[in-house]
Amino acid sequence: TVRCVQVIDETDDVKTFRFVAEPPILFSYKPGQFVTLDLEIDGKPVKRSYSISSAPSRPHTLEITVKRVPAPPDAPDRPAGLVSNWLHDNIKVGSEVRLNGPMGKFTCADYRPDKLLFISAGSGITPMMSMSKWLCDTGADVDVVFVHSARSPKDIIFHQKLQLMAALHPNFKLAITTTRPEIDQAWSGYTGRLNEAMLAEMAPDFRDRIVYVCGPNPFMAGVKGMLAGLDFPMENYNEESFGGKKPSKKKATAATPEPVKGEDRPRLHLVESPSTSNEPTVVFAESGKEVSCDAEDVILDVAEQEGVPLPSGCRMGACGACKRKLLEGKVEYDDEPDALEEDERQEGMILTCVAHPVGRVVVSA
Ligand code: FES
Repeated sequence: TVRCVQVIDETDDVKTFRFVAEPPILFSYKPGQFVTLDLEIDGKPVKRSYSISSAPSRPHTLEITVKRVPAPPDAPDRPAGLVSNWLHDNIKVGSEVRLNGPMGKFTCADYRPDKLLFISAGSGITPMMSMSKWLCDTGADVDVVFVHSARSPKDIIFHQKLQLMAALHPNFKLAITTTRPEIDQAWSGYTGRLNEAMLAEMAPDFRDRIVYVCGPNPFMAGVKGMLAGLDFPMENYNEESFGGKKPSKKKATAATPEPVKGEDRPRLHLVESPSTSNEPTVVFAESGKEVSCDAEDVILDVAEQEGVPLPSGCRMGACGACKRKLLEGKVEYDDEPDALEEDERQEGMILTCVAHPVGRVVVSA
C-alpha cells in the first residue's frame, strides 16, 4: 500500500501523484518500468497500469503521471478514461492505494549505451522522464536526445523540469515539437508532426543511437515506419505502448496448447447452438458462456463485455496478470508478448489481454 503525499498539476489535464510506501520503505525499480494500481471503483475491482514517472535514484517516493481522458467526441456520454479520470477526481493527499509491480522491460538500465534517443508523444513522456532523471541523477556518461511531441505548448508535460535538465546537463539535449500551437501561446520550438527533416536536425547521428519510443499507437507506428525507411538499425529500436488497442497485424505467433486430457478438462456449459464455423468465438469454460466476436478482439475484452471475471494488469502483454489456459483452439498475438515463458506456452497458457482468437477457442475462465 502507498499513501499519496502530493498531487502536482503538470498541465490543465495532467496530474502527477506522488506516493510514499506505507509502512515506509525505499522503492526499488528500473527507470521506465510501470506499476499496476489495484483499485475499487463503484464497488468493482479495477486494475490499471501506469509508467512510473519518478526515478529510482530518488527512492523515497514514487510518482505516476496521469492524463485525464475525455469521452470520445462521438459518444460524449461514454466514460472513456474511467480509471484515469477517477484518479484525478479521487486521489488526494492522504489517499491510500494498493500497487503491484514494478513490471516491464522498457528500460535503458539493463544496458547503458553511449547514446540514446528518446521519442515520445503526449503522456508517453512518463517512462522517458524516469529514465532521463535517473541518467542525470547518476551522472551517467550517456548522450541523450529527448524528442517530444505535444499538442500545444501548454500541453507539454514536465516542460520546466526538462528545460532545467537541459540547462544543467550538457549531454542532455531537448527538442520539442508542437502539432497544434495556438496563436495566443508563445512558441519558438519546432511545429508540426515529427518528420525526417526534423529528426535529422534534432539528432543528426540518430542512426548511432539506441531509440526508445512511447506514445499513442499511431504515433509509434509512424516513428517506427519513418526510422525503418531511414535505414535505422531496427534492432536498436524499443517501444512501449499505452492506451487503446494496437492495430491488428496478425503476425503468426499462434500459441498451440498441448492436448488436454478428457478427464482434466473442465465441463463445458455451452449455449444451445455452439458455433461450428470458423468465425471467431470464445468459449469461457467455467462460466459456460460462448461469445462470437471479431478477429480483432482480444479475449480479455470479450470476457469483460460478457461479465466473465478475469484478472488483468498492464493490458499489453507485459505483466502476466491475465494469464489463462487455452483448452482448445489457437490464438494469435500482434507482437511477441513479454510475459509468457516458453514452458508456459508449451503448457497452453495465453495472455488474454493481447490474444486474438483464431476461429473457436475455449479458455479456462
Ligand atoms: S494484463 Fe498484463 S499481461 Fe495481460
